Amino acid sequence: MTVKELQEEILRLKAEKDICILAHAYQSQPILEVADYIGDSYGLSVQASKDKRQNILMCGVRFMAETCKVLCPEKRVYLPNPEAGCPMAEQLDPEGLAALKAQYPDYAVVVYVNTTSALKAQADVCVTSACAVQVCRAIENDKILFVPDPNLGQYVAGQLPDKQFAFYQGGCPHHMQVTPDEVARAKAAHPNALVLVHPECRGPVTDMADYVGSTTGIMAYAQQSPAQEFIIGTEISIVEHLQYQCPDKRFYPLSASLTCANMRLTTLMDVYHCIRGTGGEQIVLPEEEMAGAGRCIRRMIALNG
Ligand code: 13P
Ligand code: SF4
Repeated sequence: MTVKELQEEILRLKAEKDICILAHAYQSQPILEVADYIGDSYGLSVQASKDKRQNILMCGVRFMAETCKVLCPEKRVYLPNPEAGCPMAEQLDPEGLAALKAQYPDYAVVVYVNTTSALKAQADVCVTSACAVQVCRAIENDKILFVPDPNLGQYVAGQLPDKQFAFYQGGCPHHMQVTPDEVARAKAAHPNALVLVHPECRGPVTDMADYVGSTTGIMAYAQQSPAQEFIIGTEISIVEHLQYQCPDKRFYPLSASLTCANMRLTTLMDVYHCIRGTGGEQIVLPEEEMAGAGRCIRRMIALNG
């Protein structure tokens, strides 16, 4: 089957079986073309709860599929490639969080969405890169324990100087490898380019950027900006997608370390097998965990307004 034939068959089965396909912005172009909705972690969460269809196929990594299931417990949610996980989501377990909570008893616990639903169930509120500043600002408590990404946490803390933050030393194994030297080299090579980075990068890198935001935030900024050249400090797929969408502009990757193997695992063939019922995994979570994580994610959506 050609890619086009495979896509047509996926679209036919999707309509026949009442399936909604959600795709994270890092997914490949052939997958984005069959998706009903493409977005960052925040947009995907909101869209999962809005869609009327009874089945969701989440093309991304496991925590994103778990988030869909938690927000829509009555729906069947599938992850087309069960191996696709986010290493950051496994960095802190509920026991580790319990120990941190004992160390910071009067702090509000804020968990990044890149975590398991078991961890979210133990937290006060969830955040994504798109809403972290707004949600942390809206929390009544002036003390925040932010886990597991200290880079996103430090970025948020920099915007909210009146609040006190404590961090866990996790982080994205790809974004945290980007160095200020790489930013300096990329700027020297492309002096007219704006630098757009994800807040999972370290502070010295975000400090050098013209714009810091989520994956879709970066894409929207580049599309709307009158500038013609951009250095992109997030997963390399975003460089490809932007170049495809804005052929008259120029996009350069910030660092070779920005390749997330997990986000590249899901193929169009995986989507096809999942939709046929010959592959993928249906997400099943304990009731109690879903209730706790659901409270945490819904509070994020409410606080973000
Ligand atoms: P976004 O919420 O910006 O899409 O980020 C998800 C992610 O995993 C970035 O590495
Ligand atoms: Fe996780 Fe980093 Fe990959 Fe995003 S880029 S899914 S944070 S490992």
